Amino acid sequence: MRDKFYITTPIYYVNDNPHIGHAYTTLACDVMARFKRLDGYDVLFLTGTDEHGQKVEKAAREAGTDPAAFCDQVSENFRTLASEWNFSNDQFIRTTEQRHIRSVQALWRRLEEAGEIYLGTYDGWYAIRDEAFYTEDELGVDDAGRKVAPSGAPVEWVKEPSYFFRLSAWQDRLLKLYEDRPDFILPEVRRNEVVSFVSGGLNDLSISRTGFTWGIPVPGDPRHVMYVWIDALTNYITAAGYPDETGESFTSWWPALHMVGKDILRFHAVYWPAFLMAAGIDVPSRIFAHGWWTSEGRKISKSLGNVIVPSEIVARYGLDQVRYTLMREVNFGNDGDFSHRGAVLRCNHDLANDYGNLAQRVLKMIARNCEGKVPSPGTFHEQDRELVVQGRGLVDRLRQHVDVQAFQLMLRDIWDVIGAANRYIDAEAPWKLKAADPQRMETVLYCTAELIRVLALLTQPFMPQSSARLLDQLAIPGDRRDFASIGEEHRLRPGCPLPEPEGVFPRLAGNES
Ligand code: MSP
Repeated sequence: MRDKFYITTPIYYVNDNPHIGHAYTTLACDVMARFKRLDGYDVLFLTGTDEHGQKVEKAAREAGTDPAAFCDQVSENFRTLASEWNFSNDQFIRTTEQRHIRSVQALWRRLEEAGEIYLGTYDGWYAIRDEAFYTEDELGVDDAGRKVAPSGAPVEWVKEPSYFFRLSAWQDRLLKLYEDRPDFILPEVRRNEVVSFVSGGLNDLSISRTGFTWGIPVPGDPRHVMYVWIDALTNYITAAGYPDETGESFTSWWPALHMVGKDILRFHAVYWPAFLMAAGIDVPSRIFAHGWWTSEGRKISKSLGNVIVPSEIVARYGLDQVRYTLMREVNFGNDGDFSHRGAVLRCNHDLANDYGNLAQRVLKMIARNCEGKVPSPGTFHEQDRELVVQGRGLVDRLRQHVDVQAFQLMLRDIWDVIGAANRYIDAEAPWKLKAADPQRMETVLYCTAELIRVLALLTQPFMPQSSARLLDQLAIPGDRRDFASIGEEHRLRPGCPLPEPEGVFPRLAGNES
């Protein structure tokens, strides 16, 4: 049986249309899911929409629709994003689905039976935009002198009956979890933030609301709807088959790797493991918190008018170009800036010049000088062997990077080999060998084409369509495109006819400034 790998994106609030933040997390998950599938794993890749709560209810009201119809409509935009960006998610979950409602209510009952829930009154601050409760000392003041959440979101005072989860009792067990599993939260700087937050002591958490109705009813007390975060987090186990905990689905998939933005780390790394431990369910395998994008050096906001719309950047630069740029431009985990200049540079320099040109040059020479067939190499020189070995050795390095979500390093390593291949071609100058030493020319072209095969296999998770086009040009059959096919035994067969070559990474017109 193949090893299982389960990866999740946050589920996105349907109050807003998809933006770069949504596309980014899902892209990172898609790269990882594709990598693992190609590497022989059985993968469950989950994304979806978070549809309950006050924020969504308010957005529906403002749109003049009822919440259910509103959710149907906006949730569809996130499905469209997934297909436009070629995301390979296996499931798309919606929190309004029956299977999810059943799952959340089962988890609630379990927590109640375990004595982890009690009825009280919440008397404190709430930010609808963050769907989060805040203590007085967490608040700041905005320019107009109003109290605001640390995120800048407006807060309101709420006083209502509420069920609470005994989060305060979980402090030591959470700290022990972080200590026992140092890579439970990555990157380390985020882990340290969580440890310091939890070390400061935890308040019990309000987990139900009575001021509105758009939520999952609390079992046995339907005047309350569940706090949207207990509802939302549970999606990760619903999709794996909860509440059927002993079923094959749940036992084989759970636990998952959760990828999230840094702003929602506390919910995932503190509340969620506490709920799970309290319910006797395994905690996630890891929570990775990535950074935030700015746009042309400024915070992205609707009022500044610099929102990056996923479909617009794809139309402008091309899908694989955008996928590459987002994964390459910043170290996953850090904040980064998206700029037009940066994107054009990546597309023209890394893709058109380095990678695209390498493939184009070699495939064109083969078409012209080797009758459009895979060349027949003669004796290999040391530099030929070195080049090909360097390519084949890449996959192990990429495996190590992918397992710590170091996507940028994966691309850097791939581009190091692309650079080596370009230097090799320049030094061997096969175009000069045609008359003088045709056998040597075939050897050089063979080695480079074989390396391009390996590179195209390895770039598939990042750039599925362009890599497929390169593999088509090398006549690699569909069942020889996984990482098990990287090995020498699957090398290009001399004499195999190749289709007419065509460029894969066009140079973008326009300036780079
Ligand atoms: N519904 C919750 C998540 C529940 S998960 C159980 C939520 N939804 S959201 O729609 O607001 O999610 C937005 C996601 O996009 C978060 O991971 C957030 O970090 C990310 N981003 C929002 N703006 C971003 C940038 N400017 N840059 C990168 N990611 C950003 O939170």
